[in-house]
Formats: sequence, structure tokens, C-alpha cells
Amino acid sequence: MKYSETLKELFAGITLNAEDLLLLEAFQIKYLPARVPKKEFSALLRANPVIHRYLISKYTPIEDFISTILKENKPINNKSTIEKYCQELLWEIADLIVYNKYPEIYDAKVEFAWDFREITSVISLEGKVVIDAGAGTGKLAFQAAQIAVTVFAIEPVTSLRRFIRDKANKENVKNLYAMDGFLDSIPLPDNSADVLMTSNAIGWNLEDELKEIERVLKPNACAIHLLRNSDPKAENPLHNILISPDWKYTCTQYNDNNGLKIKYYKIRT
Ligand SMILES: C[S@@+](CC[C@H](N)C(=O)[O-])C[C@H]1O[C@@H](n2cnc3c(N)ncnc32)[C@H](O)[C@@H]1O
Repeated sequence: MKYSETLKELFAGITLNAEDLLLLEAFQIKYLPARVPKKEFSALLRANPVIHRYLISKYTPIEDFISTILKENKPINNKSTIEKYCQELLWEIADLIVYNKYPEIYDAKVEFAWDFREITSVISLEGKVVIDAGAGTGKLAFQAAQIAVTVFAIEPVTSLRRFIRDKANKENVKNLYAMDGFLDSIPLPDNSADVLMTSNAIGWNLEDELKEIERVLKPNACAIHLLRNSDPKAENPLHNILISPDWKYTCTQYNDNNGLKIKYYKIRT
């Protein structure tokens, strides 16, 4: 199944417009070459010169990729074909847009929910400093904040950090801090956390992320990565690296109503 079909099922009912690309942050624009269908992206850029200029001004290195695909794909004149291509392109990257445009819709998705015992069965959070990296709307972070001393929710998308802060204010959660950062660049000192957890967030730059995780964890601290696999037949490219002698993660998995769920965990030595 094409990824756009999966995203259409997941986010049925939302509308996407070409202007939504103006919400993308630089690091999301960096992901586009690996994500966009080229013919459709070319059509959208030709039809929307402001978006073309915005993407380059926000993340200049994408200019080479854009020039190449514009050379490779001829202009299209038929309006309905252009509109069809634009929608196809937007749905292919709908997850990126949803984070910026509809954080509350993302937050409501049960498909991404976890039984929090997947974390607490590995390690108690009482008295602990916990990091939720790639926190999204803070699904795990809010649960951790009920038990831990301090929780840092590291999340690069501005509107998602805003969502976490607003929810923390509304719910009077005082020990949860939303911070800008990436899994391979966590804005916290060495040896500062007892637990680092991720949910559907690891793997943008895996080896560097794993090194960064070891850096921020105290000795004997714990790293836990939860992954949802919507297509159990698809290969999990992270698996062999995580369980390798270099990283020594243990893997467990189970099925729930929303498909296969996989957990990797380790104690830092
Ligand atoms: C599938 S969502 C998961 C969000 C949340 N952990 C959850 O389970 O609901 C992936 C999240 O990772 C964030 N993200 C993207 N690139 C990242 C990176 N390099 N480092 C950390 N987080 C990243 C996205 O902005 C998004 O919030």
C-alpha cells in the first residue's frame, strides 16, 4: 500500500492545501527529498511559485533537489491533473503537515497510544528524571509526569511543543518541560537522565541518535523505544542495528487492536 493511502485512512476527514507546505519547518523540508513523489512535487512547485521560494529560503540545500526534479519533469497544463498531483503529494507527506496544522487530531489518534506498563514494566519512574524524545503531543510524557520527578519532552515541531505547554498549563502539570531538540542533538547535559523513552520517533539518523542517548543517560539508566508497525510484513530496518553487539537492545513484541507493537530496551552500562 502507498504511504499516502495509509495516511488517508489514518487522518480521514482532514483537508490539505498546497499552502500547508508554508507551515513546514526547516528540518521537515530536509526530509522531503526522501518522501515526495517527484512528478507530483514538480507540478505543485510550478503551480505555486511562492511555495517554491519559501522552501528554498527556509532550507537552502533543497534547491539542488528541486532544480533537478524540475528539469526531469515537464510542465503540465491541465488544471485538474495539477490539482490531482497536488493532493497526491500532500497526502504522501500528510503526517508532517498534521503535526503543524492539526496537533489535536494527531493527539486523538489511538493508533499511537501505548499501554504505559510497556515502560513501567522495564523500570520504575518514581524519583526519576525522564526524557521523552520526539515527544509529539506528549502522549508518553504526560503519563510519565504523573510518576517521575521531572520529564523533558524533546520535540522539534513548534506547534507540538506549544500543544504540550498549553495542555500542561490546563492540567496544572508542573514537572513537564517541552524543549526544542532532536534525537541526535538533545539539549541536556551528559549523564543527566535516568530514563529516555521514545515512541514512534527513533530512526531519523539512528547511529548518531543512539550515541546521543548514551551521552545523556546516567550509568545504569534505561533507554526504551516503542514502535508501531502498521504493516507487519514490512521489514523493520532498525532491528538489526538495535540488537547488534554495538547497542545490545533487547526486543519484545505483541499485537493489540491496532497491529504489531515492538519494544526495544536496554540498561546503559
Ligand atoms: C510519529 S510522531 C510520534 C510522536 C509521539 N512520540 C507519539 O508517540 O505520539 C514522530 C515525532 O518525532 C518528531 N521528530 C521528527 N524528526 C525528529 C528528530 N530528528 N528528532 C526527534 N524528533 C523528531 C516529529 O516532529 C514527531 O513529533
